[in-house]
Amino acid sequence: MKMKQKKWDVLITGAAGFIGNNLAYELLRQGKSILCIDNFNEYYDLNLKRLRKERLILLSQKNKSSNFYFEKLDLRNKQEVFSLFEEHEFETVCHLAAQAGVRYSIEYPQTYIDNNITGTINLLEACKEYNVKDFVFSSTSSVYGLNTNMPFDEKTAINSTISTYSSSKMACELLCHTYNNLYGIKFRILRFFTVYGPWGRPDMALFLFTKAIMEGSSISLFNRGQMKRDFTYIDDIVSGFISAIENKYPFEIINLGSGKCIKLETYVNTLEKKLGKSAEKIMLPMQPGDVEETWADISKAKKLLNYKPQVEINEGVSNFVDWYIENYT
Ligand SMILES: NC(=O)c1ccc[n+]([C@@H]2O[C@H](COP(=O)([O-])OP(=O)(O)OC[C@H]3O[C@@H](n4cnc5c(N)ncnc54)[C@H](O)[C@@H]3O)[C@@H](O)[C@H]2O)c1
Repeated sequence: MKMKQKKWDVLITGAAGFIGNNLAYELLRQGKSILCIDNFNEYYDLNLKRLRKERLILLSQKNKSSNFYFEKLDLRNKQEVFSLFEEHEFETVCHLAAQAGVRYSIEYPQTYIDNNITGTINLLEACKEYNVKDFVFSSTSSVYGLNTNMPFDEKTAINSTISTYSSSKMACELLCHTYNNLYGIKFRILRFFTVYGPWGRPDMALFLFTKAIMEGSSISLFNRGQMKRDFTYIDDIVSGFISAIENKYPFEIINLGSGKCIKLETYVNTLEKKLGKSAEKIMLPMQPGDVEETWADISKAKKLLNYKPQVEINEGVSNFVDWYIENYT
């Protein structure tokens, strides 16, 4: 066997993505050693992914740190994943890489099977083979599917998913359970609720709406704006995630949300106020795969992770808009 180069605190998958990148930035800022991977797929603007990678490089240069490495790697390729684990040792794997997007999954189901399910099993197999015993997985509120008993708590039965995206994430949760049971790998499975904030995804509502309102084009409000979401600010997600890395429970599923349920219409009003401009709204019916409402019960996160979401939507939306204006105008 080859000598391992070094033991990294954390492997972050999907580090050119929205949440993985913000997590990587904060861990690097805190002085942790992180190895980042991403396949830089073209689901959305590649330039944004490159800029996210760039800001990690700049931070590590500023800190004169050798605690950082970024490799382009595709989790669908088992050989590449095994080579990575052959060369490097990891204390914890933080798995955020995925094909995200509920609506896109209706049109392109196979890519969710390949990137999410195959990608995850390759990573789990590598953990088994190379004796990595600690794993944090990013799941989603959409695994709650058609459940209506709000707020959702983690004991709710997960058997009514309505998109290939949520079914693929649910399958990954089950695979984590299996690898916990068979091989004693420790897992924290975090179910995120609609995450937003600076460096956010161009396919998500806040980015699309900000762009459209600033350019004077119309925005589409599904379920005629009556949809409700638990919008969670990125920094709150990152602090909950870091606490899940530090608190090595053997197997826990934990919601990370704001704990508040807000109408899409209200979210848009907050944005309009910040931009000082009204949106031209096109009211549309529900879309296939979407659920009408999500709302997290966050009492378990509070208890196990000392999780305390801090950022209200006024502040969060305002921070996003400031970032957008700085980078896109
Ligand atoms: N953003 C949200 O509101 C939200 C909500 C619930 C759950 N999640 C979950 O959080 C995680 C991060 O989401 P995000 O919003 O940052 O999405 P994102 O699309 O911005 O990031 C995912 C990253 O994974 C990379 N990737 C995809 N397939 C890969 C593969 N086969 N190999 C290597 N890299 C690959 C992509 O290039 C991308 O950069 C995902 O697992 C997602 O399912 C996100």
